[in-house]
Amino acid sequence: MQWTVGFLGCGNMGQALLGGWLSNLQLSPEQVVITSKSTSAKTAKRFGVRSVDVDTLVSVSDVIILAVKPQYAAEVVEPLSFKEEQLVISIMAGTPIHRLGVAPARVIRTMPNVGSRIGKGATVAFAGPGVSSVEKDRVGALFDSLGCLEWLEDEDQFHAGTALVGSGPAYIFMALEAMADAALEAGLPASSVRRLAAATVEGAAKLALESNEDPAVLKQRVASPGGTTVAALSRLEHHGFSEALKDAMNAASKRSRELATGET
Ligand SMILES: NC(=O)c1ccc[n+]([C@@H]2O[C@H](COP(=O)([O-])OP(=O)(O)OC[C@H]3O[C@@H](n4cnc5c(N)ncnc54)[C@H](OP(=O)(O)O)[C@@H]3O)[C@@H](O)[C@H]2O)c1
Repeated sequence: MQWTVGFLGCGNMGQALLGGWLSNLQLSPEQVVITSKSTSAKTAKRFGVRSVDVDTLVSVSDVIILAVKPQYAAEVVEPLSFKEEQLVISIMAGTPIHRLGVAPARVIRTMPNVGSRIGKGATVAFAGPGVSSVEKDRVGALFDSLGCLEWLEDEDQFHAGTALVGSGPAYIFMALEAMADAALEAGLPASSVRRLAAATVEGAAKLALESNEDPAVLKQRVASPGGTTVAALSRLEHHGFSEALKDAMNAASKRSRELATGET
């Protein structure tokens, strides 16, 4: 059976997923309907899909992807009536399944990241009650096609998952900014520092993915005794680099818990 997939909200993340699935042929434009607040028609035209009102979206879709900001979830989702045979995929940060208000529809909760836009995303997912193994496999394949997906066993793990994959790209963008700034200040040409810094991060990430070795071992291999990397690593330690990252991820996780309890 071919699913009709409805994107309820189709902004940054909705478009990253939609664009990825259309270009890797996991979805065809005829299968997709979208709705957003004011940009629906423009977005639909861009992707060659249909823009519909929210009630039509809910009535025609087998699978509904909730991709609005969490603070609008109550206003947008609660007035809608879902059916038991429908599957809802939520990508909303910090919104537990029991607060989505989509019963009796069944829910797969996910936390993708912006890398999905280019097929290099990472997603964590949790299947709520009643989701079949066939549905799990199909949704798993969809997200796997945009990078990688890991299933969580417990919905509570979403806080840590969000801190790692959802917010993670921003930590790396911040590191890239600092690396490029330092290289610029040290005299490298502005035209090349961004590219060099990004390619360096890409290479390190690929090595970490492909080598199966512990990052500590990979780090050691770059750091010859008495060399430049050792000098740099000792400054990073002095400034508490690892502790700062752990603290940042704990803050993201804590914020996710606050959002989950309805704190704004
Ligand atoms: N951005 C990320 O890196 C990321 C990563 C993982 C998960 N997420 C999650 O993805 C969700 C969307 O985030 P985003 O960054 O894509 O936000 P966004 O760019 O602001 O997109 C939100 C979408 O919701 C639509 N919308 C707002 N009010 C609506 C209404 N009343 N009825 C129908 N549609 C409405 C907006 O329509 P208009 O465009 O017409 O205003 C827009 O299409 C969030 O829940 C977030 O937690 C985001």
